[in-house]
Amino acid sequence: MLDAYGREIDYLRISITDRCSLRCRYCMPDGIELLSMTDLLTYEEILEIALTAAQCGFRKIKVTGGEPLVRQGAVYLVSMLKKIPGIEQVTMTTNGILLPQYAADLKEAGLDAVNISLDTLSPERFAFITGRQELDRVLAGIEAALSAGIRTKLNVVLQKGVNDDEWEKLMLLVQDRPLDVRFIEMMPIGAGQNTEGISNEALLEQLVAKYPGAESDFAIHGNGPAVYLRIPGFTGSVGFISAIHGKFCRSCNRMRLTSTGLLKPCLCYDTSVDLRSILRSGRTREERAERLAWAFARACGEKPEEHCFDREEEITETRKMVQIGG
Ligand code: 5AD
Ligand code: SF4
Repeated sequence: MLDAYGREIDYLRISITDRCSLRCRYCMPDGIELLSMTDLLTYEEILEIALTAAQCGFRKIKVTGGEPLVRQGAVYLVSMLKKIPGIEQVTMTTNGILLPQYAADLKEAGLDAVNISLDTLSPERFAFITGRQELDRVLAGIEAALSAGIRTKLNVVLQKGVNDDEWEKLMLLVQDRPLDVRFIEMMPIGAGQNTEGISNEALLEQLVAKYPGAESDFAIHGNGPAVYLRIPGFTGSVGFISAIHGKFCRSCNRMRLTSTGLLKPCLCYDTSVDLRSILRSGRTREERAERLAWAFARACGEKPEEHCFDREEEITETRKMVQIGG
């Protein structure tokens, strides 16, 4: 569907849980209150929404969390989403911990690609950033995704003074593997507001100084706003998602569905349309489908032209990333 600024909105990010097996400081700091299971959309409800989304013109779905693989049946959900006519691509963002267990099943379910979050290769820093000692399992998860033949990207968020010296080490992971790495600028959402990130511009300068042969890569790597570089001798590419220093809103193609059924036009604002109340209203399937389609149109109409991450006082979203869906 087209929004008020002529952008084609065809990508839905669906959060299926607010639970996670890690406690990343900028996403799910310790002590955060968890939702009750009855607040979460059931898989039947998610599938009903996705069916309408496909009828409204959505073509790509990302399953996110929290950590999506901690919810029982996530593989089944992927397989059902893949069966929806019109849905061309189903991908997932995960912390990777459960991939050794599920990668092969996810491949069989039809998962098209996976993004794995990895901010450091140091066990001590990993424990500091995520609150847990799980680096080895994440690394095993990356290998499991690759062995299962799933297209894989790493998501790296650099924090000033914490892991910003590790960009090169993390980049070297893609030298010999069919993997992309993407550096995501810290966004001032939730606990990200109190965490200092680093600018991708500065990072790019360092990278080009070190690898002068780096060239823009115009191949399409996914659904998102990343721009990529190819580095001579590297199998994978290096991407930059520069939410702050390179506003990408003009090519925005997405909406978000929270685990409680709120359809969010933009990450930056608390505006949303409640789909759960439509699903639980006691109406017939046909009536629900009609109202859901209306709700998508309304949310699409409310998509702002761009975010205001550079004017923090105007950000109205107050929830944590884990509650919205990263
Ligand atoms: N800024 C940027 N990225 C974030 N993520 C979580 N919170 C933030 C934030 N404030 C990222 C995680 C993960 C994905 C789900 O979102 O690192 O890769
Ligand atoms: Fe789209 Fe809002 Fe993200 Fe900009 S900040 S890319 S408008 S969702």
